[in-house]
Amino acid sequence: MTLSTPIVAGNWKLHHGPSATTAFFREFLPLLPTERRASVAFFPPALSLPAAADALTDRADVLLGVQNIYWETSGAFTGETSASMAAEAGARLALIGHSERRHVFGESDAEVRRKIRTALDAGLDPILCVGETLEQRDSGAATEIVGMQLESALSGLTGADFDRLIIAYEPVWAIGTGRAASPDDAAQMHRHARQILVRHSDGARRTVPILYGGSVKPDNASALLAAPEVDGLLVGGASLVPAEFALICAAADQVR
Ligand code: PGA
Repeated sequence: MTLSTPIVAGNWKLHHGPSATTAFFREFLPLLPTERRASVAFFPPALSLPAAADALTDRADVLLGVQNIYWETSGAFTGETSASMAAEAGARLALIGHSERRHVFGESDAEVRRKIRTALDAGLDPILCVGETLEQRDSGAATEIVGMQLESALSGLTGADFDRLIIAYEPVWAIGTGRAASPDDAAQMHRHARQILVRHSDGARRTVPILYGGSVKPDNASALLAAPEVDGLLVGGASLVPAEFALICAAADQVR
C-alpha cells in the first residue's frame, strides 16, 4: 500500500510510553474520521509500538513507523532496534536521519544511506529527513547542505525504491523552537529537493512526497500545506496532544 498525499506524520520522539500511548489513542481515534484524504502515521518510541499496534487493531487507516533502525537484523548490537523487529511490532514506515539522530547521536550521511537501504529491504517505507542548521542557513549554505544530504542518501536507489521513498525537509532551527519556516521558504527548499529527486529517480513511477517539519501547529498547518511542493507534514510536539494533532489532520483533509 502506497501512502496517498497529503501525509501527516506524528513523531513522538522520546515521549509516551506504552500506557500513555494507549491513553493517547483512546482520545485521538474518535477525533479522526476514517473516511478522509490524508494519510496519517505515528512514530512512537520503539517500546510503545506494540501498545500502539494494539490500539489501532480496528483502524487500519492509521499507520505506524519506527523512529530509527539499525542495519543489522540481529546480533551483538546492544541497544539497537532492527528493521525486521520493528516491522514485526507493527511498523510500516521508518524515520531515517532525523536531525536529532544526526546532531545528538552523530549519525553520518553514510549511515543514513545504509539505513535507507535496510528499511527498504525489510519492507519499511523510509521517511528520509534532511535539513540545515541555523548557522548553515545564515551563511547561505542551506540549499547546498540539503542538496548534499539528499545526493548522499539517494545514491544507489533504483526506480522501484523511489516508489516507496518519502522525504521530510526539517530545518534544524525550526524543530521544537516555535519558529516554523515560512511557507515560501519551505516551498523554495522543496522545489530544490524535487529537482534533485527528478535527476536521481529518472523513470520513477511515482512522485516522491516531500513533507515539511519543524514547529508545525494547528495555526500554521494550513498555510504550510498550501505551499507548492509541500505534500504533507512531519509533526513533533503538536502530535503528542490528541486535539492538536486532530486539527492538523483535519487541515490536511481540506487542502487543495
Ligand atoms: P516539532 O518537531 O514539531 O516539535 O518542531 C518536528 C520533528 O522533529 O519532527
